[in-house]
Amino acid sequence: MSGTTRSWGLRRHVDGAPSPDDFAVAETPLQAVEDGMFLARTIWASVDPGMRSTLSGGDSYSAATPLGAIIDGFSVAEVIESRHPNYAVGDLIATGGGWREHVLSSGRGYFQKIVDRRVPLGCWIGVLGVPGMTAWFGLNRVAQAKEGETLLVTSAAGPVGATAGQIGKKLGMRVVGVAGGPRKCAWLKDEAGFDAVVDYKAESDLTAAIRAACPEGVDVLFDNVGNAMIDRVLPMMKLRGRVVVSGQVADYNTPVEERPGLRHTDVFITHRVRMEGLVVFDDIRGFAAAQSQMADWIAEGSLKFAIETFDGFDKLPEAFCGLFRGENFGRRLVQLSPEPA
Ligand SMILES: NC(=O)c1ccc[n+]([C@@H]2O[C@H](COP(=O)([O-])OP(=O)(O)OC[C@H]3O[C@@H](n4cnc5c(N)ncnc54)[C@H](OP(=O)(O)O)[C@@H]3O)[C@@H](O)[C@H]2O)c1
Repeated sequence: MSGTTRSWGLRRHVDGAPSPDDFAVAETPLQAVEDGMFLARTIWASVDPGMRSTLSGGDSYSAATPLGAIIDGFSVAEVIESRHPNYAVGDLIATGGGWREHVLSSGRGYFQKIVDRRVPLGCWIGVLGVPGMTAWFGLNRVAQAKEGETLLVTSAAGPVGATAGQIGKKLGMRVVGVAGGPRKCAWLKDEAGFDAVVDYKAESDLTAAIRAACPEGVDVLFDNVGNAMIDRVLPMMKLRGRVVVSGQVADYNTPVEERPGLRHTDVFITHRVRMEGLVVFDDIRGFAAAQSQMADWIAEGSLKFAIETFDGFDKLPEAFCGLFRGENFGRRLVQLSPEPA
């Protein structure tokens, strides 16, 4: 196949909230597919808040993105040319393809063939992809969550948070969410089945509101937001409570030295609280089993998800920047080319 292909790269290091001007398009010739390689066209590309932590020049849980490098992200793609024994033309894959129109690969890294077509394709990089797996392994492996416990989830309407809350309900937990705005809060209660929701943008005393929603305290805090929230909730943790550090969306735009710290660390002693983070790819061997269970739940209608779509390659930076203004309602995906019939 000849022609050119486009990708979005990092134009300058991001300072504070990301802006579309931080990114630039590169157009390069499509390279020939050699033996042992395949070429796939990107259908859906994701924008992920966690990517922000790699865009200011320092390493985080992923290495810093160098200037000019293609922005990371997950994608669903269709193989359109193959000289690889394990990939045939027409195969659909979920991968960490990044913000690019085509992926040329030897198959090394994260490539998952999509064979279960009961759910929308975008689910494989959403509720069944890294966000959903973060929820599953954060709750099951890291928190060891149990029936009867109280789970508090922050950024609860996002793909990680909404999935974590619903898995908590399936485990028999009492689930409380913190989210911004009436639309997200109503969806969490009415659709996702959360027991209580706190709209943090509407509360003048957020600590009191969370306490009122969790009158017996919190067994598991599943935090997607960052230090100020963790510190706020630590005094509410019950004996042997667990704090799952999933993400830090409120802190990613702030230099480390200016981020809030934790003051209530005495609770780790008095209440034997454990705090642990996760990098979801540590659990990759368990993805298939978790995805199979969750796909069944989606197919039977008992696991809800929200996908918000953007049309066209040009929209990737704008879709990403809006995550930090709370604009997304669920998983944001950008469509780069049509789904196969
Ligand atoms: N550890 C891992 O392996 C792993 C893997 C994947 C994702 N993650 C993390 O999981 C977290 C959630 O990811 P997601 O994909 O589901 O995204 P998400 O929760 O939808 O993130 C965007 C949302 O974050 C909230 N937000 C933005 N700025 C905020 C602020 N300053 N304070 C409080 N909330 C703010 C907004 O929701 P509201 O309108 O409700 O404020 C916004 O819509 C992220 O922090 C991500 O980095 C971790």
